[in-house]
Amino acid sequence: MQKIIMANHKMNLNLNDIHEYLKKLQNYKKNIIVFPTSIYLPYFINDGYKVGIQNIYKNNIGAYTGEVSAMQAKKIGVDYVLIGHSERRRLGDNNELIKEKIRSALKNNLTVVLCVGETASERENGDTLKVIEKELSVLEGTDNIIVSYEPEWSIGNKKIPSSDCLKKVVNFIKKCYNVRVLYGGSVNVETIRKLQEIEQLDGYLIGEASLDAEEFIKIIEVAWL
Ligand code: PGA
Repeated sequence: MQKIIMANHKMNLNLNDIHEYLKKLQNYKKNIIVFPTSIYLPYFINDGYKVGIQNIYKNNIGAYTGEVSAMQAKKIGVDYVLIGHSERRRLGDNNELIKEKIRSALKNNLTVVLCVGETASERENGDTLKVIEKELSVLEGTDNIIVSYEPEWSIGNKKIPSSDCLKKVVNFIKKCYNVRVLYGGSVNVETIRKLQEIEQLDGYLIGEASLDAEEFIKIIEVAWL
């Protein structure tokens, strides 16, 4: 099975970069899923890319300045949404809100990419699986759910978990829920080869290394070998 490849641009790239990016990744656009900064979504959609939105609000419509709903995203052609990313959890998304966002996403036929993962201190305390179990407990079913294991200490840090740890976590998630599991956190041209040894992984969510089209293509090529 070909690995699922997702790119999380976060709040990066400007409009000129986007035009270049769209050109460079033309040959891959049907087989990767890009989560650009939301104002750029229409550029990707109009060019035939598969896209996801980095965040949604829990309600469909109303007086919520600055928010975007799952319903609005779906109507312009978005099919995926990231929920529970550690950067959003740090901004206040708790499990209660995450549950409501998941409900809204599924009601609007978006596929949810639920991000879970421990912090450095939780890992040191041996609490990795406990934390993941709690973060997964928001799930009320598994249809249209993909889980991305993203240890917070690895994101943007050039460090990835050992193969043994990764296997343990991925097996744990798959034992608890019948879902596809991605890995996210410092996936780059160096780490991808090691990650490819973990057969249980269904794909990758790539942040920083997905911003540079050339580097991203190199990663995709290794992941699809
Ligand atoms: P990174 O981010 O690849 O830059 O570590 C991954 C993510 O936050 O999804």
